Amino acid sequence: MAEVRGVLDERRRAGASVALVPTMGALHDGHLALVRRARELADVVVVSIFVNPLQFGPTEDLDRYPRTLEADLAALAGLGVDVVFAPDVTEMYPNGSAEGTTVSAGPVGARYEGAHRPGHFDGMLTVVAKLFSIAQPDVAVFGQKDAQQVFLVTRMVADLDLRVRIEVVPTVRESDGLALSSRNRFLEGHDRTAALVLAESLDAARTSAADGASELLAEGVAAFGDHDGVDLDYFVVIDPETFLPVDEAFRGRALVLVAARVGATRLIDNDFVDVGASGR
Ligand code: PAF
Repeated sequence: MAEVRGVLDERRRAGASVALVPTMGALHDGHLALVRRARELADVVVVSIFVNPLQFGPTEDLDRYPRTLEADLAALAGLGVDVVFAPDVTEMYPNGSAEGTTVSAGPVGARYEGAHRPGHFDGMLTVVAKLFSIAQPDVAVFGQKDAQQVFLVTRMVADLDLRVRIEVVPTVRESDGLALSSRNRFLEGHDRTAALVLAESLDAARTSAADGASELLAEGVAAFGDHDGVDLDYFVVIDPETFLPVDEAFRGRALVLVAARVGATRLIDNDFVDVGASGR
């Protein structure tokens, strides 16, 4: 950590701007799109690789989470990344992670992903705040794939007056529409095909958005039908400004969030829709 701070201090003193891409490793093309965007935005690009125990619940997949450091470093080598910060758990949490100071994500942090993963967003914001403090980036780059994370990080920056700009990069998808995720590597055979239902439900929502929020919601949920081995966790239409569910009278740009368990793998996806727009 001291070494990374030293390198970045020196570059900043020489007038360089810094972009940070926080990751948990197991890098895929979605992460590489974040790194490419960071490369466009700043003189120095820092990528952090840290599987943060604080954002995993006791029954979640912390041990199963893929760790592929060598492949990650090789993928980053070709992209002109200046600094890779890959601390171990004791470096990030020298006093243990259980009883230290944490950031609270507030009520929105308890909804959607937070309802299924209690404490997840407090843990995520805590490590992101630490990474901001360590790297002191001018800009930090996040993926739209984790829409609630983007909302909460953006709000933390505003609420805590942090001096960093948040840049959001669109979700990268496979050619058949599946949103890229480090967890996709667990999808095999039937599960890989079944996972497409998330993107299909968003397509259905987009197609029926002109008819209003209830119709959109009904069509999106109906896309799940009775897919074998798929359990829908939530499918919601929210106002991107507040991250709260919209009502039937809502018109304008909304965000649809979906989460489902496919076999043993939990997947999320989202997309913007134009609710009640005429012209169909
Ligand atoms: O999106 C992720 O990979 C993680 O939540 C992040 C932002 C790196 C914090 O651990």
